[in-house]
Parts: sequence; C-alpha cells; structure tokens
Amino acid sequence: MSRGFFITGTDTGVGKTLVACGLAAAFRDAGFKVGVMKPAESGCRNEKGRLVPQDATFLKAAAGSSQPIERICPYRLGVPVAPSVAAAHAGVQIRPDFLVRLYRDMSAVHDFMLVEGAGGLLVPLHPSYTYADLAREIGLPILVVVGNRLGAINHALLTLEHAACLNLKVSGYVLNDMESEKTPATDTNADTLAEMTRVPCVGRIPFLRASGPGTGAPQETRPDLGALFRRHIEFDNLAKIT
Ligand SMILES: Nc1ncnc2c1ncn2[C@@H]1O[C@H](COP(=O)(O)OP(=O)(O)O)[C@@H](O)[C@H]1O
Ligand SMILES: [Mg+2]
Repeated sequence: MSRGFFITGTDTGVGKTLVACGLAAAFRDAGFKVGVMKPAESGCRNEKGRLVPQDATFLKAAAGSSQPIERICPYRLGVPVAPSVAAAHAGVQIRPDFLVRLYRDMSAVHDFMLVEGAGGLLVPLHPSYTYADLAREIGLPILVVVGNRLGAINHALLTLEHAACLNLKVSGYVLNDMESEKTPATDTNADTLAEMTRVPCVGRIPFLRASGPGTGAPQETRPDLGALFRRHIEFDNLAKIT
C-alpha cells in the first residue's frame, strides 16, 4: 500500500504547493525518502524554448529529490488553464494510465509520496478524467488545503462532501492563512468548519512573512519550512495515518 498524500485544495492559489513543500520538508527532516509529483502543470514559463514548471521545481527542492523534473512533472503545459484544455491547446492528450504507472514506479523507490493536483478536485486531466479519478487510481488519501478566506466554508464542504460521495479516502484538511489581513471570515472559518464536518483539521498554517529582512525569497524555499510545518501540523498523526 502506498504511503503519502494526494494534495488537493478548495481552489487554485490557496496554498497547495506551499503545503506540499512544507510536508515534503517536514517528512524529509524526519528521515523519510520523499517522492513528489505534479502530474500536470499548466501556465509554465517558457525559458529559451523550454517550459519550466514552477510548482514542480519547488516540490523537487523541498523533497530533496534527485528525480528528473520530467518524471516529477511529465506534462508541462504553457497555457494557464485546466490541464486537459492546456494539453488540447498544445496538441497532446494526457494519458492517465501513463501517470498511474509513473506514480507506481516512483512510489516503489520512495518511503513517502506527495502528489499535488491542480486547481481543485474536479479539474480535468482529460475531458472524462479528473484529479479525483487519479487520486482514486493511485490509492493515496487526499489532504484538502483550505485557503482561509471568505467563501472557504462552501468550497471546503463541497470538496469534502464530494470526495466522500466518490468514496475517496480523506485524511483531513489543512487550513491555510494565505492572506495577510484578518477579516471576520478568517477569524471564524476554523470554528465553523470544525462544527460542520467530521473530517479532521490536521493543521493550520499561519500567514508567512519573509524569513529575514530584505529577503524576497519565496516561502516555498525557506530553510526552516520543515521545522515550521512540524510546529503547525499534526505531524505524528499524519505519519501514522498515511
Ligand atoms: N500561509 C501563507 N503565507 C504566505 N504566503 C502564502 C501562504 N500560503 C500560500 N502563500 C502564497 O500564495 C501563493 C499561492 O500559493 P500556492 O501554494 O502556489 O497555491 P496553489 O498551489 O494552491 O495554487 C504563493 O505565492 C504562496 O507562496
Ligand atoms: Mg500549486
């Protein structure tokens, strides 16, 4: 049985990559050999004719993975839309069977796998195949990153309830304080969600500011990311339940 998590979220831009990097760093610090995948990444930058996947690059660095980026992120796409649409635009078709095989090969040589989706659970990799289908086929339990902002309750409950309808294994959700400003919604979402779902909250990530004065480095690459996540997630539980 595979160990690890499939990281999905309530939306795009809610902190999936940051949370996946934080978990990768925390598990790596604890001595796990961590494998990462971003099966498809759209909106890649074109650098001298090569499409560079930002999320996959952050994941590889956080996990300390020696796998080539082409295995971590086999479908690198330029247009910033759902992978199925970006792939069609590029004249390629995403092959779920290929992704599943690649995942199995990767999981065989790692202790622990983290796979980041794109957008939310029902984003298509293919017109008739979503990330929910992929999560089921690879057999990883999902972790839902909930961006703590106005609208989060609805998005979180829709995601969790649909995952339950599909009989996906759900390990929990991580509440991510992705906005610097507090609002009535960000102050109350944690309690409201806890009242409305039995799915456990396995961590709450505070809004992260630059780690040192004048450093514009991305949060995903900060050297203390693993330690920071150890403090803010239920690490021992997560290591046990996967
Ligand atoms: N807790 C946080 N504190 C500070 N910045 C955050 C936090 N969570 C996310 N961000 C920033 O918000 C942006 C979107 O996050 P990202 O992880 O890329 O989202 P997703 O993978 O869901 O699209 C990134 O620039 C990331 O560094
Ligand atoms: Mg991302």
